[in-house]
Amino acid sequence: MLILFYCMSLMLAIASTDDGKKWNDQAQKELTDALNLKPNIKIAKNVILFLGDGMGVSTVSAARLYKAQKDNIAEGMSTLAFEHFPHVALSKTYNLDAQTPDSAGTGTAFLCGVKANAGTLGVNGNVQRKNCSLQKGNEVMSILHWSKAEGKSVGVVTTSRITHATPAAAYAHSAERDWENDANLNDVEGNCTDIAKQLIMDNPDIEVILGGGRRNFFTIPVGQRNDSLNLTQIWETDKSTKGKGSYVTTKSQLDAIDVKNTDYLLGLFAESHMEYDLDRELDNNSLDQPSLPEMTKTAIDILKKNDKGFFLLVEGARIDHGHHASKARKALHDTIAFDDAINIAMKELGTEETLLVVTADHSHVFSMAGYPETGNDILGLVHPTPDDEPKDNLPYTSLIYGNGPGGALVNGSDGHPGRQNLTGVDTTDPEYVFQAAVHMSSETHSAEDVGIFAIGPMAHLFHGVHDQNYIAHVMAYASCVGANKKHCDRPKDDPIGSGVSHTLAHSLILVCILNHINKYL
Ligand SMILES: *[C@@H]1O[C@H](CO)[C@@H](O)[C@H](O)[C@H]1NC(C)=O
Ligand SMILES: *[C@@H]1O[C@H](CO)[C@@H](O)[C@H](O)[C@H]1NC(C)=O
Ligand SMILES: *[C@@H]1O[C@H](CO)[C@@H](O)[C@H](O)[C@H]1NC(C)=O
Ligand SMILES: *[C@@H]1O[C@H](CO)[C@@H](O)[C@H](O)[C@H]1NC(C)=O
Ligand SMILES: *[C@@H]1O[C@H](CO)[C@@H](O)[C@H](O)[C@H]1NC(C)=O
Ligand SMILES: *[C@@H]1O[C@H](CO)[C@@H](O)[C@H](O)[C@H]1NC(C)=O
Ligand SMILES: *[C@@H]1O[C@H](CO)[C@@H](O)[C@H](O)[C@H]1NC(C)=O
Ligand SMILES: [Zn+2]
Repeated sequence: MLILFYCMSLMLAIASTDDGKKWNDQAQKELTDALNLKPNIKIAKNVILFLGDGMGVSTVSAARLYKAQKDNIAEGMSTLAFEHFPHVALSKTYNLDAQTPDSAGTGTAFLCGVKANAGTLGVNGNVQRKNCSLQKGNEVMSILHWSKAEGKSVGVVTTSRITHATPAAAYAHSAERDWENDANLNDVEGNCTDIAKQLIMDNPDIEVILGGGRRNFFTIPVGQRNDSLNLTQIWETDKSTKGKGSYVTTKSQLDAIDVKNTDYLLGLFAESHMEYDLDRELDNNSLDQPSLPEMTKTAIDILKKNDKGFFLLVEGARIDHGHHASKARKALHDTIAFDDAINIAMKELGTEETLLVVTADHSHVFSMAGYPETGNDILGLVHPTPDDEPKDNLPYTSLIYGNGPGGALVNGSDGHPGRQNLTGVDTTDPEYVFQAAVHMSSETHSAEDVGIFAIGPMAHLFHGVHDQNYIAHVMAYASCVGANKKHCDRPKDDPIGSGVSHTLAHSLILVCILNHINKYL
């Protein structure tokens, strides 16, 4: 079997000659593109932040290979939409009190512009987790609030509960991410408002809200609230005085929305999180839930009616959950759905007047290990050479976790506990739990940096290694919202805003690029 495999690889290698020409040509074309790259220094009319929850760089790399396999194209030809963005940077994700961050503290950073403690959202570093009495006076506003203040429309789209950490950091202030409904606050000292109620009562003018989490909007036994409120009813009543609002709970209802005639849209498509995209596909969408790209398209169609533009947060939330469960296939499939949503946005809006930022809140302890050969199944086993044969002589997958539920040991043939023998195990099964070094009920986040990929106005300001809160500041600067707007009242032919002409700006950039090249000659 193994011999047959090596023979096939050899045949492939002989069949496809590669004298390097292709690589020289491709690199030269990329070099020309880089030399001709001119920063887009316009003011961004729209900003979309695409947040892949837990989408570390290893997830991006593996998703690219997963996509190649799924679409049956050559590995080298497979790329994700955002890989083509011209500006890339790294984001340092730590929380104030944690080397490895959570999604609440990080959401506060990239949406509100300040680092925060783990578990807290929409509040500054004075607030300790779970301490309700410290909240007052320490609230911080997000780019949603800043954008509303300039007359823009705003939206939040996610596949998690809409009250979950990342989306909640966009609109709520809470010393604890788990205070999603009032019953979660039963034993909490002080007077704090739950996250769902904040969304409906304190931030009533978010134009588009799409995700899961219905249970936090209704009272027991229909939902989990304990205060007799029917929050969607309150939302509908409020909207009826302001314009045309629609509350929907299924894909069919979402498809039937007349965007031209809709000012406000609230969609809650699941009691808790929405399904993994892979499960949605496999069960033929029997639950009638929209996909992330579908939600993104509807959101954009409603938001773009505002002449002043919009800010939209789109979260691929379940990439993170797939990793926590170590069901890598689900994490990768959700990464592709997330990428499809980015493609939809580019198709709908172009990149001239819309800043698109793609990033992650944090990474995971997820790696691609061993030396799998080209064309190896990304979900499959590595075929080791004698030099990298594992000491236990057991097969292993290239996708592997540092810790997680897949760390359980079994009784080996020699009587000692060891890894499960994966011979004959279908590791491509959607439910397969990939192996881990340390056994934990839930795989953990990782502290390593994550990528920031950007295109559109001011995208070049993402250019190095940044603390994560820098992201909010660039998005605000680019779209002229928030505190730093000195550059915004400027004539159209003076886009820099300081009397520097367009041509001069371009020559400065050119000089800068030439200097840069010089360093390497
Ligand atoms: C909240 O913080 C204050 C000030 O540090 C402290 O006095 C109080 O005990 C804390 N409350 C809780 C519930 O931790
Ligand atoms: C509902 O509220 C009552 C009164 O505050 C409290 O006793 C009860 O434990 C709460 N139930 C739940 C499920 O939160
Ligand atoms: C609790 O806060 C709400 C809203 O912030 C306010 O209306 C209410 O009066 C407060 N209650 C107490 C007991 O302070
Ligand atoms: C909430 O209010 C809406 C609109 O009035 C109603 O259709 C729905 O049944 C209510 N839900 C619950 C759980 O009471
Ligand atoms: C979904 O559709 C496919 C193809 O029609 C079918 O083979 C499969 O059994 C269906 N799955 C479910 C869960 O209904
Ligand atoms: C793993 O299982 C296969 C198939 O049962 C067996 O041939 C092989 O010897 C096992 N490997 C070890 C190290 O036990
Ligand atoms: C391993 O073997 C021991 C002793 O034979 C037994 O008590 C234990 O339950 C076994 N564990 C597993 C995971 O099979
Ligand atoms: Zn997580």
